[in-house]
Amino acid sequence: MEVVIAANAAEVARLAALRVARACRSATTRRGIPPVLGFATGSSPLGLYAELTAMLEDGSLDLAGAAGFALDEYIGLPKGHPESYAEVIRRTVTEPLGLDPAYVHVLDGNSDDPLGTCARFEQAIIDAGGVDVQIVGIGANGHIGFNEPGSSLASRTRPMTLAERTRKDNQRFFDSLDEVPTQCLTQGLGTIMDAREIVMVAKGTNKAEAVAKMLEGPVSSSCPASVLQLHPNVTIVIDDDAASRLSTAEHHRMAWTNKPEWMRWDRLNH
Ligand code: GLP
Repeated sequence: MEVVIAANAAEVARLAALRVARACRSATTRRGIPPVLGFATGSSPLGLYAELTAMLEDGSLDLAGAAGFALDEYIGLPKGHPESYAEVIRRTVTEPLGLDPAYVHVLDGNSDDPLGTCARFEQAIIDAGGVDVQIVGIGANGHIGFNEPGSSLASRTRPMTLAERTRKDNQRFFDSLDEVPTQCLTQGLGTIMDAREIVMVAKGTNKAEAVAKMLEGPVSSSCPASVLQLHPNVTIVIDDDAASRLSTAEHHRMAWTNKPEWMRWDRLNH
């Protein structure tokens, strides 16, 4: 895992986008087809999506024909609800990145066959050739996607009950706590771990404890994001606040500053 501690939110977005763009380019070169991306919702990746949009505009990134898979979805929000992840992904990812909506898959939170929906979603990822680069955020309780503490580290896409902490954290997107769904569908930790590369973004002091447990704690379902310690190609891009509880923060800063030129993936077209 490479941990990059960036000076501010703009730098988090820029560096994470460079990493994602690099993964997309190498996926296309290696497989000869457009890349397959995994998309997260939440506020953390919004700057990254804006940076990717800018790269498309200046020609440094090409996502023509790219496919995407969203991490998760609430169960039971009416179709078209602005906070359903189908709508959030349409608004913040599919349209700005000019992706073909037919290639952007979001779990159907109103399916009358949730288990079948999850199984078909897993198959769709396989049919697409797997996810080249998965973008993830982290919940304050250490969740990724909606894999709440206690999730099996080998879990696949499935229905899940939201933790109360998550419902309270996400209340800001709704008028009241009662309106926040209690159930969701989410890619499993095993599903996320199958991505060839993972890029995480996290910002703010309210993520500091989760980030420290993820990076420095044991691999444990009590902090689902800690499973990323076992993935061979993960980049964690965080700001100073999110890094504030890391005992290894100075090491990560030094490693980044002293990185030899040939390893500087943040250089354009590396
Ligand atoms: C939600 C999403 C996660 C996201 C998390 C953090 O619960 N399901 O995928 O990572 O929130 O969101 P934010 O980035 O807004 O803090």
